[in-house]
Amino acid sequence: MTSPSSTHNIDPSPLLSKLPIQKIPGDYGIPFFGPIKDRYDYFYNQGEYEFFRSRIAEYKSTVFRANMPPGPFIASNPNAIVLLDAATFPVLFDMDKVEKKNLFDGTYMPSTSFTGGYRVCSFLDPSEPNHGKLKRLFLSILASAHDKIIPKFQNEINILFTNIEEEVTNKGKADFNAINDNMSFDFVFKLFFNKNPSETKIGTNGSKILTQWIFFQLAPLMSLGIPKLPNFIEDLLLHTFKFPFFPVKSGYKNIYDVVYEASTPILDKAEKLGIKRDEACHNLVFVAGFNTFGGLKTLFPLLIKWVSLGGETLHKTLAKEIRSIVHSEEGNQELTISMLEKMALTKSVVYEVLRIEPPVPYQYGKAKKDLIINGHDAAFEVKKGEMLFGFQPFATKDPKVFENPEEFIPERFLGDSGEKLLKYVLWSNERETEEPSEINKQCPGKNLVVLLCRLMLTGFFLRYDTFTVEIGKLPLGSSVKITSLTKATNN
Ligand code: HEM
Repeated sequence: MTSPSSTHNIDPSPLLSKLPIQKIPGDYGIPFFGPIKDRYDYFYNQGEYEFFRSRIAEYKSTVFRANMPPGPFIASNPNAIVLLDAATFPVLFDMDKVEKKNLFDGTYMPSTSFTGGYRVCSFLDPSEPNHGKLKRLFLSILASAHDKIIPKFQNEINILFTNIEEEVTNKGKADFNAINDNMSFDFVFKLFFNKNPSETKIGTNGSKILTQWIFFQLAPLMSLGIPKLPNFIEDLLLHTFKFPFFPVKSGYKNIYDVVYEASTPILDKAEKLGIKRDEACHNLVFVAGFNTFGGLKTLFPLLIKWVSLGGETLHKTLAKEIRSIVHSEEGNQELTISMLEKMALTKSVVYEVLRIEPPVPYQYGKAKKDLIINGHDAAFEVKKGEMLFGFQPFATKDPKVFENPEEFIPERFLGDSGEKLLKYVLWSNERETEEPSEINKQCPGKNLVVLLCRLMLTGFFLRYDTFTVEIGKLPLGSSVKITSLTKATNN
């Protein structure tokens, strides 16, 4: 199914285009050696941004052929047509044109042992019957948790801020990522399963168990950036063979058991939809542990990083907006969705973070048939079965759509003109103007995630006037250490 706006810039008749057809530049090189060369360029010789930037310059095209990591021996076919602009990227959302089967991690799929032997929802194409059933189940869990989101998240961020303050006082700086990991894990468990994980056999290890389990699945896409580790050793260790499941098996089992026990009503519902209880439970662990925990683990540090880079003036303006709205309703200081809706700048800042550094930057889709993809100035012929790959930050920083695309502009999405840009915000694997459904592959957590980011900023600027951070790079995302916090003077 194609939604109306996802046809933007793509000719409705697949083999006709008014634009001149341009041969897709680039080649895959000699088998085995070409993919290894591209992998070294990607991780070590150039780095991912320069890998794409240099090829755009060389081919004078934002669409070209390249091998995407990991390649041999993990992925049998690393060849991909790379899409790096706002016009061609959305073909990846068009389920009539691309197949999403087993592509969640790209050109390879981790062993299904990580998910109880099942292909969980993220790996299913919408044409597979279980996709719609599982997605319906997730959307219903989110809908029934709706009223609990604000109070539960506020409780968790109270703990987060207390821990950050303590660490800043005791150690001079606070590791936001580590504190956020624990907070996100506790929040997800309490929201989805009504359980405090520290009162179960998971104890306080949940975020570490999941971090390892995620790392074992995504290692082939990472570079650790350890200066003393020679590149060829890291490449051999991370990018040449798939990681086995057994080292993380017992931790996973603890989490699975707790989720199983806590999810009787959800599992009953799944059974009614025709999904086996254990399959549904492995899916729940994946949604909570990979999709949600993994997403928040990356996104919140990015949010705090970009807001910190916005500087003190932005902090003061956000604090003023947030406090004026929260304190305007007499006698009622409880935060509501309608209050959050009024926070125009806060909303714009969240979209700007999701635009400038989308937390999940890679998207894949395999052409279901021969296609013509329309770019800004030319069209490209793609054959059935070819792999399409989009590196999202280039699409959401396309200079043909966004003014000063590399700049963090907090006000970018304000007003009517700002609203018109929302359809180019793609972090959820669809346009921000679309909604997740059983027939698309858009993240069902889309609205929850945007809400949580607004709540994080609201909580932050009700407590603090401004703050400073130290920023570093991580294999996935950024590391953020909070070095100072100025308590609110006008709360
Ligand atoms: C910061 C948090 C999150 C981020 C960054 C994120 C991002 C994404 C992205 C990019 C995809 C598409 C992947 C692809 O197929 O290429 C996706 C899919 C998915 N996400 Fe999220 N997500 C987040 C939170 C959540 C939450 C809270 C849920 C809870 C329901 C969730 C559940 C899923 C599921 C089930 C899919 C697969 C959808 C399908 O197969 O149709 N995610 N997410």
